[in-house]
Amino acid sequence: MKHKILIIEDEKRLLRILKLVLEDNGYQVKTARDGQQGIDVWTQWSPDVVMTDLQMKPVGGMAVLKFGRLNFPKIPLIILTAFGSIETAVTAMKTGAFDFLSKPVDHKQLLEIIEQALVTNKKEPKSLEDLIGSSAQMEQIKKDIILFASTSSSVLINGESGTGKEIAARAIHEASERQKGPFIKINCAAIPKELIESELFGHIKGAFTGAFKDRKGAFRQADKGVLFLDEIGDLPIELQAKLLHAVEEKTVMPVGANNPIPVSVKILSATNLNLETMINESNFRADLYYRLNTVSLHMPALRNKSEDIGKLTLFFIKKFCQEFKKPVLNITDNAMQALESHSWPGNVRQLKNVMERTALTCTQDTITCDHLPENIKAAEPQPISQNIETNDLDMATQEQNLMIAALERCGWNQSNASKELGITRSALRYRLQKYGIKK
Ligand SMILES: Nc1ncnc2c1ncn2[C@@H]1O[C@H](COP(=O)(O)OP(=O)(O)OP(=O)(O)O)[C@@H](O)[C@H]1O
Ligand SMILES: [Mg+2]
Repeated sequence: MKHKILIIEDEKRLLRILKLVLEDNGYQVKTARDGQQGIDVWTQWSPDVVMTDLQMKPVGGMAVLKFGRLNFPKIPLIILTAFGSIETAVTAMKTGAFDFLSKPVDHKQLLEIIEQALVTNKKEPKSLEDLIGSSAQMEQIKKDIILFASTSSSVLINGESGTGKEIAARAIHEASERQKGPFIKINCAAIPKELIESELFGHIKGAFTGAFKDRKGAFRQADKGVLFLDEIGDLPIELQAKLLHAVEEKTVMPVGANNPIPVSVKILSATNLNLETMINESNFRADLYYRLNTVSLHMPALRNKSEDIGKLTLFFIKKFCQEFKKPVLNITDNAMQALESHSWPGNVRQLKNVMERTALTCTQDTITCDHLPENIKAAEPQPISQNIETNDLDMATQEQNLMIAALERCGWNQSNASKELGITRSALRYRLQKYGIKK
């Protein structure tokens, strides 16, 4: 794919030469003769890099720069400056230009700068735009996502419920060269035990009662793409050996078939259980664990990256106000402080749900503490906010602690507790049953 370069310059001769040099080096080029024309082409054509002169009439390069920063902040813009106007170029750099080139333009330098600009442009792929947060942990996670996306290795993602395991898996898919292939998700906890094999590997017609026609199964559906095995800790032990075989041999055997079928799939899996503990208790196969966990990604609990709460809150307010077709609401410092000091047992999902409800119900133009749910506006440190997340604390135990704490606070009302945890009532019921928790 050819990269697209937009050049905005009023000197006809220079414009022609720059276009020739760049086209000669494999770029696709469009030109404009002043700022306004340039802005129009930019909007319609989506170039990868923009170069602009500063002194042009009627609309100059600074207007282009401001337009770009506001509307296309990720697109690098290079300033072309006449001899003697370096100062203006420096001002432009401070306003966010990528670099400047002085005239007469040195062709070798031109090509080098364009190349550098394209590399910078690639740094933050689109897939990461959905992952909000700039805490040190999130910055590291974004780097890991890019790294893990570039290999064929399997990735195991762990973290409490609602921390963003699925959104991270989707980001790995989108950042990888398999992005054009499918992303298929299987929730191992939600499928009845007897159906999982056929869900994963497919079956042939007549393989068992009710198998009226052939079924492809998730592995083959995900061919040339990504298979996301959610809640992998809930995969029945009987099926773990079959999964291991499929992952190692890169083939699947549909139920009732005699011949294995080759597949090319990148496996991502997620769990909030501690698989190592499960291995010790013989509930999870160690060989499968090592195969799935070639590399691992830990999604931290929200209370352990509370510096991201502000950004996430503003992001969700904007998102929901736009969805509800309302002007974007402001939020007071006090309300933000209450959100920042809450323990968020249901993590980002819970914050998202609270902001959705608040955006819907707030009838003023500013969110204050009064608009927040009772338990949050109290801003009292919850017992849970004591850092119970440590690497060696079993995640299943943590999950149980969180559920019990939420239930206690809500007088064991499951509906209210599930709201506080940010999960559905049936999900809470399922988990209570799973751990045998009763009042
Ligand atoms: N960093 C983030 N930026 C924006 N949205 C986020 C972020 N992390 C999580 N979310 C949102 O929070 C919700 C929960 O995230 P997700 O489903 O990925 O969590 P999970 O870890 O898979 O939870 P569970 O264990 O319950 O399946 C989603 O709506 C997701 O979009
Ligand atoms: Mg999930």
